[in-house]
Amino acid sequence: MGAWMELFERVNGCTACGLCKGRTHAVPGEGDPKAALMLIGEGPGAEEDRLGRPFVGASGQLLTGMLEAIGLARGQVYIANVVKCRPPANRTPTPDEAAACLPYLRRQVALIRPKAIVLLGATAARYTLGDQVRIGRDHGQWQKRAGVWMMPTYHPSALLRDPGLKALAWQDFQSLQAKLQEIEDG
Ligand code: URA
Ligand code: SF4
Repeated sequence: MGAWMELFERVNGCTACGLCKGRTHAVPGEGDPKAALMLIGEGPGAEEDRLGRPFVGASGQLLTGMLEAIGLARGQVYIANVVKCRPPANRTPTPDEAAACLPYLRRQVALIRPKAIVLLGATAARYTLGDQVRIGRDHGQWQKRAGVWMMPTYHPSALLRDPGLKALAWQDFQSLQAKLQEIEDG
């Protein structure tokens, strides 16, 4: 796991963008380094910054519950974010911040080689699939990019703000469960 150690050390010491100034802990990501499924969020919030772990606050609890509902434990997947350091007051990362940090995410994808990637919210979707993605329109739709199945869906924090979206997100997660089964069946 030398490559992972090196990556984590680089992230933890990174000063490539201004977000390094406000961090308590960088949040590189966690999970199974051989996971078939990777989930990508936007960036750490307060609780994540405090603990150095992704999706451990209120959004994280919802996400963990949704994964469990389709039969996945957190340890079976890999969870990461577009930016590894918390943006002040949880604002959206700027394009410059995302650009500075994206090489780490690309490296994670290259090391894990997941079969499917779920993009949680507009930030993750836009920096991976492109600027044209609109979550309200495109959520739940799969596309294959460089051999990897990719699907945008709502960010769990959007579901906490607007519980009316939960039914749509739940459909996306059922589609995810079916896609993973399809992949497993080859
Ligand atoms: N929101 C995110 O996008 N990522 C986290 O890790 C936590 C909350
Ligand atoms: Fe480095 Fe990413 Fe943190 Fe910016 S957000 S300092 S690029 S690790």
